[in-house]
Amino acid sequence: MKPVEIAKNIYWVGAIDWVTRDFHGYSTYRGTTYNAFLIIDEKITLIDTVKKQYQSELLHNISKIIPPEKIDYVVVNHVEMDHSGCLPEVIDIIKPEKIICSKMGHKALRQHFHKDDWPYHIITPNEEMSLGEKTLSFLETRMLHWPDSMFTYAKEDQILFSSDAFGQHLATSERFDDEVNQDVLMHECGKYYANILTLYSPLVKKLLAKVKEMQLPIKMIAPDHGVVWRKDPGKVLDAYSRWCTHEGQGNALIIYDTMWHSTETMAKAVAEGLQEEGISFRLLDLRVNHRSDVMTDVLNASAIILGCSTLNNGLLPRMAGFLMYMRGLRPTNKIGAAFGSYGWSGEAVKLMNQSMKEMKFSICHQGLKAQYVPEHSKLTECIELGKLVGKTLKDSKAGKEIVSVI
Ligand code: FEO
Repeated sequence: MKPVEIAKNIYWVGAIDWVTRDFHGYSTYRGTTYNAFLIIDEKITLIDTVKKQYQSELLHNISKIIPPEKIDYVVVNHVEMDHSGCLPEVIDIIKPEKIICSKMGHKALRQHFHKDDWPYHIITPNEEMSLGEKTLSFLETRMLHWPDSMFTYAKEDQILFSSDAFGQHLATSERFDDEVNQDVLMHECGKYYANILTLYSPLVKKLLAKVKEMQLPIKMIAPDHGVVWRKDPGKVLDAYSRWCTHEGQGNALIIYDTMWHSTETMAKAVAEGLQEEGISFRLLDLRVNHRSDVMTDVLNASAIILGCSTLNNGLLPRMAGFLMYMRGLRPTNKIGAAFGSYGWSGEAVKLMNQSMKEMKFSICHQGLKAQYVPEHSKLTECIELGKLVGKTLKDSKAGKEIVSVI
């Protein structure tokens, strides 16, 4: 991909990764991009770099504008390897006057690359840096999503270079929000939030409030993944304000795994109960739905109903893995319930309830178990469970406090 001028004398010079389908356990069906930006001014500045294997694409793009050795400053908004993997080689070529980073970025860069002699420049609060005609300022965004994370703001152009925040794993030939399908864009943006930022939602909330308080005019948001928000940066800011509350849309998810289809039969009966209450729902079989897609639905759901058979006194491995993943991301504000079939011990329901309790879900049912194959009366209980979740959702919508029964 050739460089793209996103504003006068500011170029996208990153790389498109059409190949990757997995980001440490997060499925990326549409690939991704590693965005880097080059500012041409008296002090030529490169904001972020790319994954190691895309180094030549980055240098090739920069070379179409200026020889890389002419770059004066390199800004490192985030040290994770998808944005810094090629730094040692790039720094060797550029030999910059300054490598600009946060205090934690400095620590992380040294821990990653073991270079004490690089010309680090650690930003200070409220620091402004003149590049000539353009001015940069910096905003530390610790734990969004790494300790080193920060934003860089180009004052005159009103562009927020937001590192991972507001990004999407979306490989496209287009570089801007208004050039791509909006449903795909918002889906990928939501998936990114759900799988990377859910855990840090209280910090996202604070950051959004801080940005509002600073009254930063934002004409464009340029994240390190996906397209640049030039037409409607407010759209992604609004979406983040919504997502950081974890508030669902009044709907339910039945997330399950099954051994000999008994739990699956129970799942369908639970769904019938939800249907009777007029609740919108999805059945998500973990055998065919990737955990990161399920997590995307979890963020927008109001009730999570888990179903799993018991295996070796525990959970089926896919449910165990999913719960480990979901617990790590800590979604909140959910109503919960669990069910499952078993042969002779039946611990799965208790284990799922424990997980939901740890996540502070409002569990509305003690849990429903069926030995071996559920008969008609047991399926009727499953329908009742679905109806109970549906009624609880309606109570919650009406403002009633939901008290967990476990
Ligand atoms: Fe895209 Fe946290 O790296």
